[in-house]
Amino acid sequence: MTFDEHLAQSDSTYLEQLKEILAIPSISGISEHRDDVQRAASWLRDYMEAIGLERATVRPTAKNPVVTAEWLQRRGAPTALIYGHYDVQPVDPLALWTTPPFQATERDGRLYARGSSDDKGQVIAHLQAIASLIAVEGGLPMNIKVLIEGEEEIGSPSLEQFIKDNKDWTQADVVVISDTSMMEHGLPTICCGLRGLCEMEVHLETANTDLHSGLYGGAAPNALHVLVQLLASVRDGQGRITIPGFYDGVVEPTSEERKQMAALPFDEEEFAQRLGVDQLVGEPEFTALERISIRPTLELNGLWGGFQGEGPKTVIPNEAHAKITCRLVPEQEPERVAAVVAEYLTQAVPAGARVRVDLGHVARPWRCDPASAPVQAAVQALEQSFGRSAALARMGGSIPVVEVFDRLLGAPCVLMGFAAPDSNAHAPNESLPLESLRIARRALGRFWHELGERGV
Ligand code: BES
Ligand code: MN
Ligand code: MN
Repeated sequence: MTFDEHLAQSDSTYLEQLKEILAIPSISGISEHRDDVQRAASWLRDYMEAIGLERATVRPTAKNPVVTAEWLQRRGAPTALIYGHYDVQPVDPLALWTTPPFQATERDGRLYARGSSDDKGQVIAHLQAIASLIAVEGGLPMNIKVLIEGEEEIGSPSLEQFIKDNKDWTQADVVVISDTSMMEHGLPTICCGLRGLCEMEVHLETANTDLHSGLYGGAAPNALHVLVQLLASVRDGQGRITIPGFYDGVVEPTSEERKQMAALPFDEEEFAQRLGVDQLVGEPEFTALERISIRPTLELNGLWGGFQGEGPKTVIPNEAHAKITCRLVPEQEPERVAAVVAEYLTQAVPAGARVRVDLGHVARPWRCDPASAPVQAAVQALEQSFGRSAALARMGGSIPVVEVFDRLLGAPCVLMGFAAPDSNAHAPNESLPLESLRIARRALGRFWHELGERGV
């Protein structure tokens, strides 16, 4: 039996197996789901053992476990490390889901569930490609280690330490990741860049207590007004960040890069329509695709304070709060950007108010070398499987550990993603086209052969 025949024959079993792990609500950001996170890790360990990987192990970290397994019998051949994550984002607002998020449901040729595309579906596609290779060929074309973590959606706080503590085990010639999306349906896409990230929380205080707005209004500072004015001043009217030093180190794209980006399929009007907005925003000198992938941003993610209960309340709030994240591009340093933002907010706050900025997680931006052997092997395998030439695109999302692999292991990373542009990752009704799942398994099987033959 050929590899493709084995995949075809296993299709319904493979789908049922994916549904099993999708049923486990392994939300890393909500502490009540700690047991579910553990269950997902154990499920993966058992699954990896069952398909013929060796030494499948749930390994504790300071927070959520990492699951590892390996197949290292191809002596002299290069070794790849497959990375993915089994944790998922929260599901609220639950009311907007057509079917329950943790009851994977097939509809219109897609599988709907939280994690179907980000990232359990893509992780399982990898494991099922391995399962069929082992079943049909008795082994793998090269040596493979698998590392699936449970903290990606909260910024991978334990993973850098895990890699440092397990440097020998983690060492590989190449890192392979499927945790990104395709630019359009049927267009194989290799992600060649990720933005970095820095998180902040802003806490602003005015008077020593909330105040009656009739007795004090007009003379007492209002924390909400102070905060919204302060935050409004970080952008000009055209989406540029006005904070001094924010853009320091940003590498401007060359005209060649801009030409290549302009050739990628991206329709601004259709993009706006999909979002339900009649106008896109941002730096006028960059295309929308450039703005969402190779330009840095500062976004308010949440803003709170004052009275939010039922009915009116004539009050002057004395506290206001905001959550902010910046997306970063090469060569911005997250700690430095966080520092200039914090510095600006503390300097620009007017008299009558005090502001404190707490720094959260950071991730560095990353870029790939499109000419590397593993990227070229991926191009080849994807083109053969999809019958279309592959697109190489930098993307705006972040996967914190990718830059860490680069820095600590010195190994090239290949990001072959199979989620759809309309997969709704992190949103209600997340889904993965069943066709993407099937093509991913086939393409990944081809990729291991291609890379095994080419070498790294
Ligand atoms: N898989 C995504 C990242 C992604 C998706 C990159 C599509 C490029 C294209 C990942 O799970 C994710 O959501 N990352 C978070 C990281 C954050 C929580 C530290 C992100 O980008 O917001
Ligand atoms: Mn992901
Ligand atoms: Mn995600």
